[in-house]
Amino acid sequence: MATFNWAILGLGNIARKFAEDLQRIDDAQLVAVGSRSAERAAAFAKEFGADHAAGSYEDTFSGPRVDAVYIATPHTGHKELTLMCLERGIPVLCEKPMGLNLQEVQDMVAAARRCNVYLMEALWSCFIPSIVEMKTLVDGGDLGTLESLRADFGFRGVPRDDFERDRLYNPALGGGALLDIGIYPIWLAQYLFGSPESIHATARLTDLGADVDTQVTLRYPDGKLAHCYSTLLGDTKTDALLLGTKGELHIHGRFHNAQGFSVLQGTDQPPENHYHSFEGNGYQFEAMAVMEDVRAGRKESARWSLDDSLLLHRTLTEVREMIGVAYPGE
Ligand SMILES: NC(=O)c1ccc[n+]([C@@H]2O[C@H](COP(=O)([O-])OP(=O)(O)OC[C@H]3O[C@@H](n4cnc5c(N)ncnc54)[C@H](OP(=O)(O)O)[C@@H]3O)[C@@H](O)[C@H]2O)c1
Repeated sequence: MATFNWAILGLGNIARKFAEDLQRIDDAQLVAVGSRSAERAAAFAKEFGADHAAGSYEDTFSGPRVDAVYIATPHTGHKELTLMCLERGIPVLCEKPMGLNLQEVQDMVAAARRCNVYLMEALWSCFIPSIVEMKTLVDGGDLGTLESLRADFGFRGVPRDDFERDRLYNPALGGGALLDIGIYPIWLAQYLFGSPESIHATARLTDLGADVDTQVTLRYPDGKLAHCYSTLLGDTKTDALLLGTKGELHIHGRFHNAQGFSVLQGTDQPPENHYHSFEGNGYQFEAMAVMEDVRAGRKESARWSLDDSLLLHRTLTEVREMIGVAYPGE
């Protein structure tokens, strides 16, 4: 089979991790990288063996054939760059959050469907082996009926004096806990429960209006609840606990790329531990899923579809309206 050629736009932290993981896939290669800086592009291309280094995102595609592009800029650049690639017929894996708000995601999905070109939001958790097995067990009824879940994602961010120079706190770049990390607990709730009936949210905001400590409770039919917490104020366990009528399931931290989980059925029983350890950062699984889809001629993923992204961003946008986080231009 021909090697699958990847390009990356925006050469920051996550681009580097993704490029490392591409090296773990035998039939994948990074062929082109695009940056706002020609020097950064050249250095990144040299490090990861890409043939083509472009000092602008537009020029990234003037070199070798590109089978799919990974967009890894801050959230605020996702829509524009995705549209640019879709218009050129290039399949896109776009970092989460796919857009800044529901309207942007709707525009991106509409463009993908109009251009008939592949698009997926990089919700990599859907492809992590432990998460895949956990979902199979839950859907198969191993926990009985799932009644409730609690999931958190938190880490200690920069001190207050540094807020202005950090992407995570900068409203002009879509900063805040919710879109950066709070998306994962809410993703898990949707992944397991589907569409919420109602949403309750509260948050603590910085002086510039980015959320740094955010609690979201989602309510589902029959009163089922998902308690989702994200914070930039300190390190949390970043784990998840699912409560079913027949038992509990603990997804070990960091739950969104967990290498294992435990099923608990009563305190008199030892936990049943499931492990799927892997090498690398874990981005290779989503990359392989994209490659399989694109090679098969599919225009979206069956495992994290465009409708899934639309629902997720409907929830996130509603939460932001509740907690009063609005970004410039919204
Ligand atoms: N899936 C995950 O696990 C995961 C983890 C972390 C982040 N993310 C997502 O990935 C995206 C990038 O996050 P990151 O942590 O990699 O950010 P980062 O380290 O700041 O890198 C972002 C890159 O985007 C480019 N860029 C374009 N416009 C920019 C602007 N106005 N300001 C700053 N950089 C700009 C820059 O690359 P050039 O200068 O080379 O153009 C920069 O290095 C975010 O949307 C985030 O939510 C996902």
